[in-house]
Amino acid sequence: MKWSILLLQAGLSEAAIRFGCSTVSIQRLDPVVQPGMIPSAHVHQIVGGNAFGPKMEGDIGEQASCTTCVYTEDLSNYWTAVMYFRHENGSYMRVPQYPNAQLGTLGADDRTIKGGMTIYYTQKDFWDNGQEYITSFPPGFRMTVGNPATDSLDAARSNRGLRYTCLQDILTRGSETADFPTQPCPAGIMAIHHFPACWDGKNLDSPDHQSHMYDTTLGGFREAGPCPESHPIRVPQLAYETMWDTSVFRDMWPKDGSQPFVWSFGGTRGYGTHADYAFGWKGDSLQRVMNDSCMFHRCGSPGVQGVLKTQTVEEMNACAVKDMVMEETEGWLDELPGAGEAPVEMEGKWVAM
Ligand SMILES: *[C@@H]1O[C@H](CO)[C@@H](O)[C@H](O)[C@H]1NC(C)=O
Ligand SMILES: *[C@@H]1O[C@H](CO)[C@@H](O)[C@H](O)[C@H]1NC(C)=O
Repeated sequence: MKWSILLLQAGLSEAAIRFGCSTVSIQRLDPVVQPGMIPSAHVHQIVGGNAFGPKMEGDIGEQASCTTCVYTEDLSNYWTAVMYFRHENGSYMRVPQYPNAQLGTLGADDRTIKGGMTIYYTQKDFWDNGQEYITSFPPGFRMTVGNPATDSLDAARSNRGLRYTCLQDILTRGSETADFPTQPCPAGIMAIHHFPACWDGKNLDSPDHQSHMYDTTLGGFREAGPCPESHPIRVPQLAYETMWDTSVFRDMWPKDGSQPFVWSFGGTRGYGTHADYAFGWKGDSLQRVMNDSCMFHRCGSPGVQGVLKTQTVEEMNACAVKDMVMEETEGWLDELPGAGEAPVEMEGKWVAM
């Protein structure tokens, strides 16, 4: 009987990985939504392998030679828009990112993860796979979640995987909102992106970069609903957390009380939050860890032998992608990079900044 064979094969296991990746690049490139465009519409912050570029084709796990992620076999790329602070005088400055408290914040500069994000691959939830076999993404796979053209709170709320947390301290979790916090957050703003985890089993990508996937995510690392027949393959539940250190602007909050943070694509309410993924794990390494019953650092971390190979924070920080756009994204800027350029079509909608 097919059912009993599946059950036997899958078995109950946990297996959730959570790991830090430093910034590999910050520039206006978008190989999934605007391949080949230099520059693309808005600035992105990217982590992962050094095969990242304006155009990415094939198996980037075979093309990259280093990664800013702690697991050396993970040559994937992960990226989101960049958060800027808008000064009352009209100038903009990029908000710096800082790493998760549990990962790579060891103090001395060369031992601290540089910017970046925390990446999660979970199964049913943190604790088990729900007796369901979790299939790794295949080489060449990519997807996006969210849409920069989202322009209402209701639309933002309906995507339960995309949220913000106003950080009271570095460990604050929960109290998620679908729009930017409107008050100063003492330890910054965490942007959270949970991707869909049901795949159609056929397409590595789709014209809108989303319809080959189906979202049953409830957000907050809760158990997701079952996959529908149209998208029957359960893949790992991928999630990003980015900690934006808005606290460095605490003494510059506008006198009229208005919220001063803005995404690099111009969204002042935060509704258009979105994220991109290009799979690039080497060989069967992601499947190997999803088959295992390890959790977090027990899957491998500096000093802990696990099923995944790790590297030091110095090695993570040393991996980089060259600047191909050659424009200023740092310091005080008169306008957001790309502002004033012609509107571009993204995810089927025209977006002006
Ligand atoms: C706005 O304020 C910042 C911080 O004081 C300053 O560095 C920048 O030059 C100002 N921009 C303008 C256009 O005055
Ligand atoms: C993962 O588990 C499945 C089912 O037991 C097995 O067929 C496959 O070879 C395993 N893959 C790896 C990389 O361990």
